[in-house]
Amino acid sequence: MVFYFTATGNSLYVAKQLDEERLSIPQEMNKENRHYKAERIGIVCPLFEFEIPSLVKDFIQDSEFEAGYFYLVVTYGMHHGGVAGRTHAWLESIGKPADYVNTIIMHDNALIVFDMDQQRSIEAEKQVDAHIDAIRSDIAAKRVMVQQAPADEIDFYQKFVAWIKQTGPMYTFPLYKVTDGCVGYRSGITLAAQTAWPAFRRAPQRRSSLSQ
Ligand SMILES: Cc1cc2nc3c(=O)[nH]c(=O)nc-3n(C[C@H](O)[C@H](O)[C@H](O)COP(=O)(O)O)c2cc1C
Repeated sequence: MVFYFTATGNSLYVAKQLDEERLSIPQEMNKENRHYKAERIGIVCPLFEFEIPSLVKDFIQDSEFEAGYFYLVVTYGMHHGGVAGRTHAWLESIGKPADYVNTIIMHDNALIVFDMDQQRSIEAEKQVDAHIDAIRSDIAAKRVMVQQAPADEIDFYQKFVAWIKQTGPMYTFPLYKVTDGCVGYRSGITLAAQTAWPAFRRAPQRRSSLSQ
């Protein structure tokens, strides 16, 4: 049994290859009593600003899982920033420890920060399917592991946190502005100008999510 949350499909793509019994987290959130039982229970979700989405946290916190093996896989686009370790610690703090927490680098869908054509051009280097295969084997073998973050990832995360403290949130909502230009053929919707952290604009570092 695998639960997924996805904005643009990356996490669903991974979930589809991990288990045939797939459940959407937003849909499950409509149910009042959430108790799940399976030999393996997994969660697949994207990384948003170095954390798992708050909806996914709410889902985990307010659901009961009865499993012989509990795992979490986080999809990201450029820097995971040590999210596996932080999420593992958080799961322990709420009494729901995971056996396995890993990340997988995929297409970065943060439109405000990245150019999608450039993202497409580096897609093959990310070796998404090979990483999914490795994660699937880990889960089949019930491997117990939390991805260790290299020092530069932790450093990247800490600098991001310091930057946010100084400048405020990276995104201000709504992310779009509707103008008179919306009436008629040409779309007048424009993305609101954002101040993206300069470090995000550098060429993405591509790292195997499985290298420990
Ligand atoms: C609001 C937002 C914040 C993001 N933050 C990060 C981040 O901190 N690090 C990163 O590497 N990718 C980040 N990404 C990229 C996504 O984590 C990545 O593209 C993910 O695979 C998307 O999964 P999905 O298609 O299942 O939604 C962010 C994307 C969005 C939209």
